Amino acid sequence: MLPEKTDGLRVEHVTQRFGGLLALDDVSFTSERNRITGLIGPNGSGKTTMFNIISGFIKPTAGHIYANGDDITRLAPHQMAAHGIGRTFQIPKPFASMTVRQTIELASRANPKTGHSDPASIAREAGLGDKLDLYPGELTTTDLHSLELVKVLATGASFVLLDEVFAGLNPSEIEHVTQLIRRFADQGTSFLIIEHRMRAVMALCDHVHVLLYGRLAKSGTPIEVTRDPEVIEAYLGAEAIEHA
Ligand SMILES: Nc1ncnc2c1ncn2[C@@H]1O[C@H](COP(=O)(O)OP(=O)(O)OP(=O)(O)O)[C@@H](O)[C@H]1O
Ligand SMILES: [Mg+2]
Repeated sequence: MLPEKTDGLRVEHVTQRFGGLLALDDVSFTSERNRITGLIGPNGSGKTTMFNIISGFIKPTAGHIYANGDDITRLAPHQMAAHGIGRTFQIPKPFASMTVRQTIELASRANPKTGHSDPASIAREAGLGDKLDLYPGELTTTDLHSLELVKVLATGASFVLLDEVFAGLNPSEIEHVTQLIRRFADQGTSFLIIEHRMRAVMALCDHVHVLLYGRLAKSGTPIEVTRDPEVIEAYLGAEAIEHA
């Protein structure tokens, strides 16, 4: 049976096995259009696997992904991109032989209809303004994470999946990147964000889904999920919430 037509992304009964390992177990959730949705959970709970499925890099053992009501489950990554889906990688994948400027200009040309007209301005806002002529080998890990973000925003993707883009950033850099994401969200970009730092999740997300051991354990507002006893016990720990 087809799900109700949803504006945004709909994950329906997705299961992923890797040999004997059940990485995702019958997971269903919605990431609505014009929202910033969080996907959180402890290490190994299946978050990146879910991104790999949504963006077409792996095909699920069972289940379906719908974008604005269209079944996109079996499409290749470049076809997902044509549906407006863009992603960052938890381990950045820079083009070794291209400068920051060349990389983001290439990204902005990937989809001529949507590509950002001034990608260097996004780079400046993400803290890469004085590094436009550097090569990836000259960048810090933090800069490489920022470049991942800038690359996907430069394509003008309408639905953006971010896999721990705050990794390694200091509080003022997090604030910068938060503002950048919010500005794109205000202009109509939808986001699904994997993030460990609860402060960033609380600041950005309208709605959060929690994965525990490959199962969807809880969905709700950031406040609702951080008050859930199962989430507190299995993932956050009372102390983590106090310090979030
Ligand atoms: N290609 C693969 N082959 C085999 N096992 C895999 C593969 N990809 C992921 N896994 C396993 O699936 C489980 C979920 O991994 P995944 O990377 O999705 O977790 P995660 O929630 O993103 O974790 P983290 O917070 O550490 O990034 C882990 O046990 C992982 O080892
Ligand atoms: Mg991961």
